[in-house]
Amino acid sequence: MQALLDELKKIVGPRGWVDDEADLEPHLTEWRGVYEGKTPLLVAPASSNEVAAVVRACNAAGVSVVPQGGNTGMCGGAVPDASGTQILLSLHRMKRIREVDAANFSMTVDAGCVLADIQAAARVADRYFPLSLGAEGTCQIGGNLATDAGGLNVLRYGTARSLTLGLEVVLADGTVLSSLRALRKDTAGYDLKQLFIGSEGTLGIITAACLRLFPDPGELQTAMVAVRTAGESVGLLASLKEQLSDQVETFELVSDYVFGLVEKHIPDARLPFEQRFPWYVLIEAACSVDELEEALGHAMEDGPVLDAVIAKNTAESARLWRMRESISEAERQDGKALKHDISVPVSAMPAFLEKGDALLEALNPHARLVAFGHVGDGNLHYNVVLPREMDANEWVEEGKRVTGAIYDLVTGFGGSISAEHGIGQLKREWLAEYGNDVELGLMRKLKKTLDPAGILNPGKVI
Ligand code: FAD
Ligand code: MLT
Ligand code: ZN
Repeated sequence: MQALLDELKKIVGPRGWVDDEADLEPHLTEWRGVYEGKTPLLVAPASSNEVAAVVRACNAAGVSVVPQGGNTGMCGGAVPDASGTQILLSLHRMKRIREVDAANFSMTVDAGCVLADIQAAARVADRYFPLSLGAEGTCQIGGNLATDAGGLNVLRYGTARSLTLGLEVVLADGTVLSSLRALRKDTAGYDLKQLFIGSEGTLGIITAACLRLFPDPGELQTAMVAVRTAGESVGLLASLKEQLSDQVETFELVSDYVFGLVEKHIPDARLPFEQRFPWYVLIEAACSVDELEEALGHAMEDGPVLDAVIAKNTAESARLWRMRESISEAERQDGKALKHDISVPVSAMPAFLEKGDALLEALNPHARLVAFGHVGDGNLHYNVVLPREMDANEWVEEGKRVTGAIYDLVTGFGGSISAEHGIGQLKREWLAEYGNDVELGLMRKLKKTLDPAGILNPGKVI
C-alpha cells in the first residue's frame, strides 16, 4: 500500500493530497452524519489526465477509489468504508469553466465546478442553467450528474440527465472516454454517457460535462399557496399547467409540520400567513403577476386553494425560498429520520398519500410523517420520525419495518424507492429487494464489464 500512496502523491503533486486526520475529517462523514469512513489518503487531481493516472495506479494495485464531489449526497455514496484502505478522490481542484458557447446554448465545465458557479457563469453569458437545489453552493456538477440530481426546476427542465449533452469519464482502467460532444442530435451508436449519469461513481469518474443552457426565463413570480390536503395539490398543479402551460417552473409541496420545523430551527424563518394551514405549495412561474393571480384565482374558485401570497419583490421571494431551502437543515437539526425519497406517477399521488396516511397510522401511530418535496414531479421526501424514546436497536428494527411497508406501497403504485438521491449505501439492500431481477442482472453485468476488478466505489448501489 505504501508504494501506491507514494505513487499517487507523485501524480497529484504536493498540493493535491491530504492525509492529516483533521483535514480529512470533513470528507469522511456524510452530510447527515449517518455514515462515517476512513481513508489512508485523499487525492485531489488537477486535471483529467491526473485522474486517469490515479485510477490506473489504483486499478493496477487492486485498491478501491471513492469519488467525492461536494459531499452533500444523502445516501452515503461519497464516503469510504470503515476499512481504511479506500482512496478518496476529490474533484474539488477541477473547477474550470472550459467554454461557454452562447450561440449553441451549451457550456463545457470541469466536474469539480460548484453548481452555483455554473449557474453564475451561464448568467454572465445571458443564458440560464436551470439545475437548482438547496446544496447548490457546495455540490459539484460531477456529483449532480453521478446522482442524476433533480431539485427544484425539474417540472420544466428535467433532471441533470436531460441537461447533459456530453461527458468526459475516466474508466476503471484509467482510459479517458471523451464524449464531450455539444450536440442535441447524435444517434451514432449507443448513447454511452447515459450509463454514467446516475451511476454514483461505480462505473467511472466523471471529469467534465457539456451542459445544455436555456434563454433567460425572464420575469419570475414566486407564490406560497395554502391547500387543504396534499392530494388536492395535484389538482392545483393540473389547473396551473392548463392555464400557464410550461411556465410553471417549481411546484413544491410542504406540510405544516415540516415548515414548523423550519420555523423552530432556522433563525427568522416565518411563513407569510396569519393562520396555520395543513399544507403549502411553493410555486415559481415565468409569467407576470397578473397571469399568476388569475391562474390562482381560478384555482380558488375550484376549491383547493385556501390562501395565497405572491411575493411583491425579490426580498419577499427570497424569504419564501428560504423556507423551502432550509428544510434539510431544519430536519438535520431536529434529529434522525427515516429518509424515503420516493416517486410515483403524478396521477397516483393523491391515492398514494391517502393510503400512506392510513398505513403509517396502522404501523405506528406515534410515528411522525415529515413530507415535502417535488410533488409536481411525482417525487416526495416521504420521511418518517420514529418516537424519540426508542433505543438504537428498536429504532433499527422498527425503521426496517416502516421503510419496507412504505416501499411496498410505493412499488404497488408503480413507483421508485429512489427518485433523485440515488442508492449509495443507504438503499443498497433495498434496491436488491425491490429492484427488477432482469434490470439488476444487467446492472451487475455492466459493472463487471466496466470495472472487472471492482475498484470503483464498491459497496455502493449494487
Ligand atoms: P457527493 O455527495 O460528493 O457524491 C454523490 C455521489 O456521486 C457519490 O456516490 C459519489 O461517489 C459520486 N460522485 C461525486 N462526484 C463524482 C464524479 N465526478 N464522478 C463520479 N462519481 C461522482 N438532491 C437532489 O437531487 N435534489 C434536491 O433538491 C437536493 N437538495 C439538497 C439540499 C441540501 C441542503 C442537501 C445537503 C442535499 C440536497 N440534495 C438534493 C442531495 C445532493 O445535494 C445531491 O445528491 C447532489 O447531486 C450531490 O452532489 P455532490 O457534489 O455533493 O456529490
Ligand atoms: C430537498 O428536496 O430539499 C432535498 O432533496 C433534500 C432532502 O431531501 O433533504
Ligand atoms: Zn429533493
